[in-house]
Amino acid sequence: MTKEIQLHKPTFNYLEIKHLKNCIKSGWVSNRGKFVEDFRRKLKLLTGAKYVIPTINGTAALHVSLKICGVKKGDEVIVPSLTYIASVNAIRYSNASPIFMDSEDDLNISVKKVLKFINENTYMHKGNTYNKKTNNKISALIAVHIFGNAVDLKPILKICRKKNIKVIEDAAESLGTFYNKKYFNKKRHTGTLGDVGCLSFNGNKIISTGGGGAILTNHKKLYLLGDYLCDQAKDDKVFSIHNNIGFNYKLSNIHSAVGCAQLKKLNRHLLKKKIIHKNYNKLLKNNKNYEILKPKNFFNGNNWLNILIFKNKKKKINLSRVIAIFKKNNIEIRPIWNPSHKQLPYKNFQKYELRKVNKIVKTYLCLPSSPDLSIKDQNKICRIIKSI
Ligand SMILES: Cc1ncc(COP(=O)(O)O)c(C=O)c1O
Repeated sequence: MTKEIQLHKPTFNYLEIKHLKNCIKSGWVSNRGKFVEDFRRKLKLLTGAKYVIPTINGTAALHVSLKICGVKKGDEVIVPSLTYIASVNAIRYSNASPIFMDSEDDLNISVKKVLKFINENTYMHKGNTYNKKTNNKISALIAVHIFGNAVDLKPILKICRKKNIKVIEDAAESLGTFYNKKYFNKKRHTGTLGDVGCLSFNGNKIISTGGGGAILTNHKKLYLLGDYLCDQAKDDKVFSIHNNIGFNYKLSNIHSAVGCAQLKKLNRHLLKKKIIHKNYNKLLKNNKNYEILKPKNFFNGNNWLNILIFKNKKKKINLSRVIAIFKKNNIEIRPIWNPSHKQLPYKNFQKYELRKVNKIVKTYLCLPSSPDLSIKDQNKICRIIKSI
């Protein structure tokens, strides 16, 4: 049997082992220690965020981000239906409700529809924004940088600031994605423009700590509250006073040790991924039936996952059959996520003009994009695509 070509495989070597050995020998294995501080400092340097809180995963980062942004029971949060379910679950952990928004062809939230919804379907009262349909407060919007491609964030930030809606950037997939200098007058990392940003270092991300995440913010008040909530809300560490209900969400020194080693590889991964993206484009160019999703030109993306688009509108493509053909060849490819508004727990929440998302999921597929994907394997993948 040939070796499986995975969708996204982590790359570990002696460096992670060396860091892990050091960490274990130090005796500091939980959420305090040299590696946690190193990882935090390195993430600050890379992203330019003033404050960073390494967390046990991206989902925990989202949960606490909503809390520190003041999302309360009964509030509503605008979120794209097309996202990994964690972005939406975090809203429900806060006993708030999602308002599902449509996506654009680039898979990111539809900025046009966000603006239309806020302008036509909400009203302001005492400095806050309310949903005309439910009279509930809309306290936040989650902008997800899908597959490493940055959201056109400027118009969203502008309207949300005006309407007192907090912006949380779900940058779980976009470590290494920067807005161009022209877009924000300065090169800016995704996740550092909204009130809060969230990263993930899950096994399938561009760098991985096994499980891990981080909260990014430039606001000291939000940082201090987040740091406090992630560490069990300790008001007095010696006498164990907890005036609030906190969480055990801080990343361990062991995971941070892996993270420090992984960060050393980020530039190499970014370079390799650029080449992989170029190769897919070259190998599949000039075909009327399919193309590779093109990142927009206002950012320099991390090319986390490459997306194949079947563009022949007349021919209905059977994605299950395509996936089965790849599986037979021991290659893992996946459809885009089943939209959140179609998931059982979310069927009864508000949906706003969800037209594109329903079409997108029928014609887009995620292709293997590991940093160490060989050209030989890419040739094989493309040969199969051409034969379908
Ligand atoms: C867009 C998005 N948001 C949130 C998460 C949650 O991150 P984690 O798996 O680290 O909890 C992920 C990925 O796993 C993701 O892809």
